[in-house]
Amino acid sequence: MSHSKDPSKDTSRAASGLDRGEQHDVTELHAAVLREKPDPVEGFEPVNLWVVAGIAGLLFWGGAYLTQYSGRFEAMEFSEIPHGKPAPVAAVAADPLAAVKREGMLTYNAVCALCHGEDGAGKAGVAPPLAGSDWVNADGPNRLMRIVRHGLKGTVKVNKDVTWNPANDPSIVMGSQWEAIGASNEKLAAVLTYIRSSWGNTGAPVTAPMVADGLAPVKERSGDDNWTQEELLKVPASGAGAPAVAAGPATPEQLKAQFEALPADQRQALLKELSK
Ligand code: HEC
Repeated sequence: MSHSKDPSKDTSRAASGLDRGEQHDVTELHAAVLREKPDPVEGFEPVNLWVVAGIAGLLFWGGAYLTQYSGRFEAMEFSEIPHGKPAPVAAVAADPLAAVKREGMLTYNAVCALCHGEDGAGKAGVAPPLAGSDWVNADGPNRLMRIVRHGLKGTVKVNKDVTWNPANDPSIVMGSQWEAIGASNEKLAAVLTYIRSSWGNTGAPVTAPMVADGLAPVKERSGDDNWTQEELLKVPASGAGAPAVAAGPATPEQLKAQFEALPADQRQALLKELSK
């Protein structure tokens, strides 16, 4: 008996259409294998070029955006709250007065601006204007330093156009700002220098020794004892406020003026002393 032939090699059966099992195209089989990704291996793979290009694009865009909208890298640039621009450091170093004004501005904005406004224009019903005020632009700072040291109450004629608190409303007062500014002659001098040289005001600078001299006669006065306009007008605006000892032999008029410039409690004490 002869062996029958290998059926796969039996082309005649395929051709006859009887063998439906083993007819595969080799290219078709390989295509399926080629489609599969290779198995992952350990090690470094290069980063996808699209990711690199994407990050480069973002960096470029970020740089362009900052150039356009950086606001000169000033934190307060876009703040809606009004803010003074601090003087550049170089200018401050070159000009000591600029440094004093800058310090005064910081105190002013932190303490006084709440009521008088950062622009010194005052606020209706809250506080009178400092811009254009006769008190602020006075020859000397004697009355000004008293206002900040002990406060102010009652009707105040600010300038020819503004009479503040004409009804003399006792609920409208400026309390002593001495503690709020840091209870220091330097701070007081700086804030007065600032308000006297801002918003079109033309007052000369104020120094700490001027404040020390000017306030010496009233250092016993209590911070709750607010000044009134009448009292302040008796104090000479410039020069030593109300010197305890006159430079030369004082005239009776001078002595009387000095006596009247003293606060009420000191006048009382002096009278008592003299009547002994
Ligand atoms: C709580 C609100 C308030 C604060 C804070 C305040 N003031 Fe006043 N200020 C007033 C009021 C109110 C008056 C008017 C008082 C009156 O009715 O007699 C006044 C009056 C004045 C006056 C005299 C009037 C004028 O317009 O020139 C000066 C000067 C002044 N203030 C300076 C300052 C300074 C400097 C500071 C900060 C150290 C300050 N004030 C802080 C409310 C305030």
